[in-house]
Order: sequence, then structure tokens, then C-alpha cells
Amino acid sequence: MPDLQRLSDAAVTQLLTEHALLHDLLEEADRITAEADSADTLVQGLLELRDMMYQQFAREENGGYLRDTINIAPRYASECEQLRLQHRLLLSDVDAMLDDMHHSPEETLATFHVRFRDFATRFLSHEHQENAIVQKALEDDIGVGD
Ligand SMILES: [Fe+2]
Repeated sequence: MPDLQRLSDAAVTQLLTEHALLHDLLEEADRITAEADSADTLVQGLLELRDMMYQQFAREENGGYLRDTINIAPRYASECEQLRLQHRLLLSDVDAMLDDMHHSPEETLATFHVRFRDFATRFLSHEHQENAIVQKALEDDIGVGD
């Protein structure tokens, strides 16, 4: 299925871009903490991440892999629904970090590394699950192993 194959390739590229951004944000948080610098750049970075996630999730939900996978392989519908719900949770995690950064920047910075790492792990795990579902649907569809 060429469309699904293209989605799979796009997902890998997206994943690498996110890895870089997530990594940069962690380094920036550490630098700010070490140098007791203003958290403005970190807030900007989180806003950028949130914007990117929001657009990406909207694409996935409105005509991206979620719909295509369910159309091609309806047996993955409940797994796709779980992934869709994870989008809401991941966005609310970033919102909570931004909110806390705004209201109590020092306390938030002090625990930011651990908290952001936890978030990044869940986010990347979500991405891996998505890629795995697309891959399974793709293999089922083209009958790999035949
Ligand atoms: Fe997703």
C-alpha cells in the first residue's frame, strides 16, 4: 500500500526531528539551571514543541495514519483510539509544564529535567507504538512472508 508506506517513512523522519527537539529542550533546561539563566528560551521551546505536537496530532487524526490504518485494518481500531487519547494526555502534560513554569519558575526548573525526561519517554513510546501499528497494518496488507 503506497500511501501507508509513505506515511511510515514520514513518521520516521518526524521521529528523528522530534528526538532532536526533545534533546535540545533538555539541554537548554540543564543550561538554564546551571547558569541560573532566565527560563524564557525554555518557555519558547516548550511553546514550539506544543505547536508542533498539536499540528502533528491533528494531521494524524484528520486523514493521517489513524484513519488510513483503521480503513485498511479495522482490527486495529481500538489501538488507534488509545493512541488518539494519548494525544490529549501528551498535550496536557506540556500545558501543565508551561503553566507551572509561569507560576513558579524556580521550583519548576528544579524538577524539570526529571519531569521532561518522563514526558519525552512517554512521547517517544507513543511514536514507537504508532510506527509499530502502521508497520503491522502494512505487513498484513501486503502479506509479508508470503
Ligand atoms: Fe500520535
